[in-house]
Amino acid sequence: MSTYTTAWKSPSNIALVKYWGKKPNDVQIPSNASISFTLNNCATTTTLTYEEQSTLEVKVLLEGKEEPSFVPKIEQFLKRIAHIFPFVTTGKYIIDTSNSFPHSSGIASSASGMSALSLCICDIALEKGLLEEADFLQTASELARLGSGSASRSVYGPLGVWGEHSDFAGSSDNFAIAYDNVAEVFKSYCDTILLVHKGQKTVSSTVGHGLIDDNPYATARFAQAQENMTAMKAILKSGDLDGFINLVESEALTLHSLMMSSNPYFILMKSETLKVIEAIWAKREKDGVKWCFTLDAGANVHFLYPQADKEAAQAFIETELKQYCENGAYIHDEVGMGAKRI
Ligand code: DP6
Repeated sequence: MSTYTTAWKSPSNIALVKYWGKKPNDVQIPSNASISFTLNNCATTTTLTYEEQSTLEVKVLLEGKEEPSFVPKIEQFLKRIAHIFPFVTTGKYIIDTSNSFPHSSGIASSASGMSALSLCICDIALEKGLLEEADFLQTASELARLGSGSASRSVYGPLGVWGEHSDFAGSSDNFAIAYDNVAEVFKSYCDTILLVHKGQKTVSSTVGHGLIDDNPYATARFAQAQENMTAMKAILKSGDLDGFINLVESEALTLHSLMMSSNPYFILMKSETLKVIEAIWAKREKDGVKWCFTLDAGANVHFLYPQADKEAAQAFIETELKQYCENGAYIHDEVGMGAKRI
């Protein structure tokens, strides 16, 4: 093997119980466990061409255009995973990557991008005889975690669990595991991402994670997240939509309250974020619908609803929510089954 090409399509994911905070003095170890829906439509497709050589050379193409600004991050990632696969410190890597969602949509591509790249690297390791097929996904998830924590969960569907938790057998801080012990309704849940603000975030997730170390509420938050994982497990299994709404929205607002109580404090929500939340609450109050929201580390709103309500919920987006989206933009997505080799 001197030159080898492979390609993977890996989705984004949206956390229900959030990862916010890493253990100090460790590399990418979460302070609490987290669980997410794997998405289906928002994905990164990466083609990796690898050539054996004695030095390291990285070239990144984004949507077909050379993107030198990505190279330092990729090189740092390769160094970080070198204890697992020492071969990655040398070689020529041409990483041709494209996202199904617009670059400027404010949707983070680190989860889908890092998982797609990690899966490609595992293919090289497989080809070199350094990895067994049986360990493939777990190793890819571990590499992805070292690139971006939430990326560890994107490898599998319909849900992913990352972080050690006694109620989730096999769970680990080092990699995510697939999770499907859930009622049917959650295996096809819909998530429309309302793009209320497409610009760059003012504070990156990585910086935000770091700020939690000095947050006075950190210890209580980490304990609460572990308890919420236990509660979420029961809710997902029983299909309790009221319990789901309550816990998912609380997790989203808690995440943002942690940002507001950091030093320096910051706010990633925009006024339209709150308007969307209020519109969803008013609709629920008025019509008793089982629709709710969650947020990631940004201003966009993930609007969650059961597949059976798709038509009505999407009509509601058109008439009530779209007005708060930048240029009326949103992306319909739903729970998916994880990454695919292409
Ligand atoms: C709010 O995985 O993007 O989306 O590990 O530093 O790359 P790094 O951070 P990242 O953080 C994601 C935070 C979150 C919650 C979540 O996905 O669990």
